Amino acid sequence: MLRRLHHEQPESFAFTAANQAWAEAQITKYPEGRQASAIIPLLWRAQEQEGWLTRPAIEAVANMLGMAYIRALEVATFYFMFQLQPVGSVAHIQICGTLSCMICGAEDLIGVCKDKIAAKAHQLSADGKFSWEEVECLGSCANAPMAQIGKDYYEDLTAERLAEIIDELAAGKVPVPGPQNGRYAAEPLSGLTSLTDFDSGKTQYNASVQLATDIGDTVKRIDGTEVPLLAPWQGKPAAAKKAAKPKAEPKPSANVPADETGVTKQEAQEVSKGGPAAGEGSKPAVLTEARDGKADNLKMIKGVGPKLETLLHSMGFYHFDQIAGWSAAEVAWVDENLEGFKGRVTRDNWVEQAKLLATGAETEFSKKAKKDDIYKD
Ligand code: FES
Repeated sequence: MLRRLHHEQPESFAFTAANQAWAEAQITKYPEGRQASAIIPLLWRAQEQEGWLTRPAIEAVANMLGMAYIRALEVATFYFMFQLQPVGSVAHIQICGTLSCMICGAEDLIGVCKDKIAAKAHQLSADGKFSWEEVECLGSCANAPMAQIGKDYYEDLTAERLAEIIDELAAGKVPVPGPQNGRYAAEPLSGLTSLTDFDSGKTQYNASVQLATDIGDTVKRIDGTEVPLLAPWQGKPAAAKKAAKPKAEPKPSANVPADETGVTKQEAQEVSKGGPAAGEGSKPAVLTEARDGKADNLKMIKGVGPKLETLLHSMGFYHFDQIAGWSAAEVAWVDENLEGFKGRVTRDNWVEQAKLLATGAETEFSKKAKKDDIYKD
């Protein structure tokens, strides 16, 4: 399939403040010089924000990562998960058309999409609410035929049921995903023939569907309000100050308006393990120069490259024992003040590494670095 940029493009693109903070935090996951590795999550976030991937969005992401536009375009056009044309404002419906689903009725499902949405894939419905496409196997073959709508699977579909689901979505409801023929998961429709003491009554739905209904955001696009935007390697939520307050309870998806903002269970859990709030931290003791004019080779700490080492020197840190002695508050201060490398102390666990190196012992990384003769003094 030829994948090209859409003929109509918006003038510009900018991440929302929340998404910008999230994107900047993602970039810090990658080592110095490898920021381009963040291309897929950033493009995905841009798509979640806009619904589809526009040329200005691709270029904005390329700019953030210091990449040539063509490199970002190559990624955007290679992966089918990136939508290069506008999609329905309520849902983009992906019908699996591969073998199992095809044998079990995928063509009928596609017929429904043609009737109710648009004659051709990737076209918008007349009201702009829906679009559809045929996709390759989505790995739910035992529940064929099936479709992915938003973030969840609707399985064991019939043409009639898919038509109803589209109507329900159009009415602002989010139907319960999972098997649509009464099956709990992928067991025989006639009932279990083995493992018959399996207690399916633990949860109302199978694990995937239960989670989907608990989260309640099947067709909601990520918009940055799913706070906190986590960067635990930075020792704190990345954008806690911009974050909206999580709601107390996750909502079931059935009958939830499609465009209502939800907060997921996972995120609620992450709030509690998001790490210590850095606050201001406290500045560790610094030196004006290396003792005896000879700094330790800080590049033996995994995650510290030449640029970071220079930065550390400029801040007054020259020796392993200095870093080994940092308290949690001092780690927080350094993490916060490493311009361009925020959060690296926590992310790469410098203190533990430095404790070993300060005694003259080696870490796995320092051994390898010395063996491979990289990062010499
Ligand atoms: S063939 Fe449709 S999910 Fe595998």
